[in-house]
Amino acid sequence: MIMKKIDVSTSINGIKLPLCIMNASGVLCTTDQELSNLLNSCSGGVVTKSCTYKPRKGNVSPRYFEWNTGSINSMGLPNLGINFYLNFLEKKEINKPVFLSISGLSIEENYFLIQKANGSSKVTAIELNLSCPNLLEKEDMLSYNFYKISNFIENIFKFNKKPLGVKLPPYFQDTHIKNIALILNKFPIFFVTCINSLPNGIFIDTNKESVVIRPKKGFGGIGGPIIKPFALANIHKFYTYLRKDISIIGCGGISSGKDIFEHILCGASAVQIGTQFMKEGISVFRRLKKELTFILEKKNYLSIDNFKGKLKVFQ
Ligand code: DHB
Repeated sequence: MIMKKIDVSTSINGIKLPLCIMNASGVLCTTDQELSNLLNSCSGGVVTKSCTYKPRKGNVSPRYFEWNTGSINSMGLPNLGINFYLNFLEKKEINKPVFLSISGLSIEENYFLIQKANGSSKVTAIELNLSCPNLLEKEDMLSYNFYKISNFIENIFKFNKKPLGVKLPPYFQDTHIKNIALILNKFPIFFVTCINSLPNGIFIDTNKESVVIRPKKGFGGIGGPIIKPFALANIHKFYTYLRKDISIIGCGGISSGKDIFEHILCGASAVQIGTQFMKEGISVFRRLKKELTFILEKKNYLSIDNFKGKLKVFQ
């Protein structure tokens, strides 16, 4: 009964999500079946696997591994190509916001993909992925090159008409976040998703005395509970430095309602679930919704706006 009046919906700069919890790009969102499952679930939105122009098989396996407190991946952008995602959406009844994740292999390819996404009325928003750490053919990450980012985004907004946000990697210095925020604040960006996996980690199987994934000599992006402190720190700093109308979508280390509460306290308007969705499957959204609602109920909060960004610090 009391549960009823607690509102766990949200708005990403005017885009209404019935629930502030969705999948993180990459996890179980590549195929027709996986995306249909997400559309049919109670998740507040659907994010697609980052797409390229041409379909890609990705890196060789094993390319994903998980342990108690984290995960490592070097998938290499396996996806069915942008046309598949646009055609899929065209033939489906869409009942919640759809975020098309785009990760072109070059700046030119990204312009092309954004142009194509602009032509689809079924794409609610574009999540431009500036932070894929696993490409064998491309070592540098755009999001660690401030000069290139600024120019790139300026060019995008010369033609882009769709709501667009950027997915960022973790940053580890205050000045880096300040500088990225200064750049983003100049443009009509809708949202920032932070953080992508911590790039270039390594996990070791002690018995085998070996790395656990094959690509890139075992190096890959780290996700899961161990990255939560970095996610929270990045969200909190971006919340301080970004224009207030740019929403933050928190991602990194969420496996419980308590983790979601912490992300929102740092300033997230919505959250994405990666590693835990991979571990638990589609039922994760219902469980997390229940856990978050329970926390709000205990704390006497009626909606996420009651505590969003209100993290207390020592004076
Ligand atoms: C892949 C991993 C990422 O973290 C990302 O942002 C995009 C793609 C991948 O390896 O497929």
